[in-house]
Amino acid sequence: MPLIKELDYGTPAKIATQLVTLEIDGQSVTVPAGTSIMRAAMEIGTKVPKLCATDSLEAFGSCRLCLVEIEGRRGTPASCTTPVEPGMKVRTQTAKLGKLRRNVMELYISDHPLDCLTCSANGDCELQDMAGAVGLREVRYGYDGANHLGSEKDASNPYFTFDPSKCIVCSRCVRACEEVQGTFALTIDGRGFESKVSAGQDQDFLDSECVSCGACVQACPTATLMEKSVIELGQAEHSVVTTCAYCGVGCAFKAEMKGTEVARMVPYKDGKANHGHSCVKGRFAWGYATHKDRITRPMIRAAITDPWREVTWEEAIAHTASEFRRIQANYGKDSIGGITSSRCTNEETYLVQKLIRAGFGNNNVDTCARVCHSPTGYGLKTTLGTSAGTQDFDSVLDADVILVIGANPTDAHPVFASRMKKRLREGAKLIVIDPRAIDLVRTPHVQAQYHLQLRPGTNVAVVNALAHVIVTEGLVNETYVAERCEPHDVDAWRAFIARERNSPEAVESMTGIPAAELRAAARLYATGGNAAIYYGLGVTEHSQGSTTVMAMANLAMATGNIGRVGVGVNPLRGQNNVQGACDMGSFPHEFTGYRHVSEDATRELFERAWNVHLEGEPGLRIPNMLDAAVDGSFKGIYIQGEDIAQSDPNTQHVTAGLAAMECVVVQDIFLNETANYAHVFLPGSSFLEKDGTFTNAERRISRVRKAMPPLAGLADWEVTMALSNALGYPMNYKHPSEIMDEIARLTPTFTGVSYAKLDELGSVQWPCNEKAPTGTPIMHVDRFVRGKGKFMITEFVPTDERTTARFPLILTTGRILSQYNVGQQTRRTENNVWHDEDVLEIHPFDAEQRGIRDGDIVALASRAGETSLRAVISERMQPGVVYTTFHFAGTGVNVVTTEYSDWATNCPEYKVTAVQVRLTNHPSEWQERYGRDSIDLRRIEAAE
Ligand code: SF4
Ligand code: SF4
Ligand code: SF4
Ligand code: FES
Repeated sequence: MPLIKELDYGTPAKIATQLVTLEIDGQSVTVPAGTSIMRAAMEIGTKVPKLCATDSLEAFGSCRLCLVEIEGRRGTPASCTTPVEPGMKVRTQTAKLGKLRRNVMELYISDHPLDCLTCSANGDCELQDMAGAVGLREVRYGYDGANHLGSEKDASNPYFTFDPSKCIVCSRCVRACEEVQGTFALTIDGRGFESKVSAGQDQDFLDSECVSCGACVQACPTATLMEKSVIELGQAEHSVVTTCAYCGVGCAFKAEMKGTEVARMVPYKDGKANHGHSCVKGRFAWGYATHKDRITRPMIRAAITDPWREVTWEEAIAHTASEFRRIQANYGKDSIGGITSSRCTNEETYLVQKLIRAGFGNNNVDTCARVCHSPTGYGLKTTLGTSAGTQDFDSVLDADVILVIGANPTDAHPVFASRMKKRLREGAKLIVIDPRAIDLVRTPHVQAQYHLQLRPGTNVAVVNALAHVIVTEGLVNETYVAERCEPHDVDAWRAFIARERNSPEAVESMTGIPAAELRAAARLYATGGNAAIYYGLGVTEHSQGSTTVMAMANLAMATGNIGRVGVGVNPLRGQNNVQGACDMGSFPHEFTGYRHVSEDATRELFERAWNVHLEGEPGLRIPNMLDAAVDGSFKGIYIQGEDIAQSDPNTQHVTAGLAAMECVVVQDIFLNETANYAHVFLPGSSFLEKDGTFTNAERRISRVRKAMPPLAGLADWEVTMALSNALGYPMNYKHPSEIMDEIARLTPTFTGVSYAKLDELGSVQWPCNEKAPTGTPIMHVDRFVRGKGKFMITEFVPTDERTTARFPLILTTGRILSQYNVGQQTRRTENNVWHDEDVLEIHPFDAEQRGIRDGDIVALASRAGETSLRAVISERMQPGVVYTTFHFAGTGVNVVTTEYSDWATNCPEYKVTAVQVRLTNHPSEWQERYGRDSIDLRRIEAAE
């Protein structure tokens, strides 16, 4: 694809029922009321010169370049700030306007370095373009007067530079930081000639509040804010539109390429999930894809204590197939299994589960989605009928009350958080339910009405108490409930929830939330207009994760907040393709589209299509596979793009399971922690190296497009196919589009999905089928997918994980903005400047009691294990609760987390672990062993 230059309409599109017709340079144009003259002109292909305007920002009217003449009006108004009026006659090109514009440009250029030919933005600079557009041929003022040409460059940010000598003070960057990102890190300091862009309190970008989202860089019309990658590599030559491989927001990007190298990633304006915005990870943290640590040759070894030996693809595949067949011959068909990846494409995930069901002949397939959002699938399917969120992201712009529970969107889902903050700045009310004071509780121009700072492990009690208030204070939406929900279940639930033990007063001492505050929050949710729930792993990763999901669905149904724009129950999915991995049949009990393996009709459908007998009994989940390995009955595993030795709880149990197997096959882009226990390593491909699709948190299926050839020669789907063929189960796809065609044939919610449709529409949200040929942005509109909504009884049962005199604190875990999941990708980027170790956040009171000062190394111990890390004293915590992240393998936070899990789905209880914290001055025993092992188990035999 050539380099894509998206049109810039100058000002944002307006939505209005009233249309206005006017004339521009003699041409008639009709646009929605409120549209600017500049945008109306662009609609008929007339570009009015501009500098301070761009269509991602509200018009500002400072540069005076976009002047026009309007018949019957005096003067020359700015077309970016003047709205259209019926019958208006506008002229954009006259001799007078030309002269005025040249004068304006002359002033800009007289204070601008004349290094166009060697400037990194040469060919991509709006100032340069405008000088040409207005016909500027000379600068009369000379370059000797006062100017800013000697201003110092700020190169502190690892990804972009700020060169004030090139700044035209158009304030696009300042407005992008405010309007698009919502961080308010930039200001224009001073007045007139003295005015200049300033980060934070006149600091370097790196030291300011800047979160490096890059919106300012994208908005800058000159080379003032510029990607370092472009400065180093030069302007790109072609673009490939693809989807970010980090979080579940699923931002669309143009990968701007120079040959096979990425010059920069630019958020795609047409991306329906991100509308041209991004965060630091997607825009800048792609260097891992070509990092020197990438493994590009397959490797095998007889024992994990041997060094790795590089082999050909043919040898690796043949060896793996023979090992799996040997194990099955010796220990039975069910002695092997596999794990699909939420980081890989839908097509790759589908192939892995197909290989296991059809090639291995069992249902021992599970996914890393087990450890995050499996309760979402269970809870929403039970109550509403679909294992997915109810809305699209844009729906939040119509919400009046936003309830965020167990999620930290500004760190984990930053682009969605920016949209949410925009709505909050417009006046929507915010309720945050979280043990920590996350950023959203108080951030520039946003403040939560209520922060219900609950004790970890009491989600169900809190959500039940909200419902109790709604039921007992007569705030139920009776019409909605009567029309749309199962009457018998409603009555049973009403009687249950109204019991005194569910009242805010009864649960106050246990949850830590003042009853009056909880009551007020419940009233706001029920009566504040459109109320939308957004939640994350702070809901699901509990022993009652599924119960909380159902309790939230109850709450939304009781108040009529499902089935239209602005409301709903919305999981914020962690990894890029968690939704897709679940949709694609990665769980041991389900085929694609969440159909149980025991359903005869479904199984027969797959048996016919795959030409093989399929088992009707669910297979093993990840924890069961590991238990069976320790017991000696499970001997081989194929793990694609997943690092269970770091991401799964109770690390020592996981590694014991892996170490007990005879053939562990890891397919990944780096030698991850799990590979330490592997006998075969199959090099994986990054998202830049293959075609496919990802499905984001709003059920949106988007294309991933190959921008460079796979470094190891094969894309992941090709490797799975080769393995299947070697095992004797034939797979012969020529392109991932054929895999998607098969998925569509076999999955009722996907029957309308094809690569041609995705190319045409950009993306679609499933269900996409005959009833909804262009997809389904909002679910459950006239009726629930299951017919009538089902209220579930959600009794609060405290977790078995209790604090004791020995372990008196509760550890809860989460993510931070700059790192991603197990950190294999982001740790190999410059993102480490923001966060280069996992730290333990602890309340000043708990720290003081233990003699801990900020920055001290502390031992964090639970009944499962112990690790050492640095303490950070933080008022964001509540006394009795400590917090850390899990991005660094050497910290080994999951050495500390325990084996407890959600009752319905086995999703681990990462969010509640009883711990003790004490001062130490050395690594834990586990860390010392890890330090030795991780060098030992990664040796690669020197090539001869
Ligand atoms: S990178 Fe983002 S947060 Fe930083 S100044 Fe620019 S717009 Fe603001
Ligand atoms: S840095 Fe760029 S966007 Fe910001 S004021 Fe200067 S020229 Fe405009
Ligand atoms: S918000 Fe998520 S999908 Fe978007 S750029 Fe950031 S990491 Fe990628
Ligand atoms: S573009 Fe209209 S005043 Fe700058």
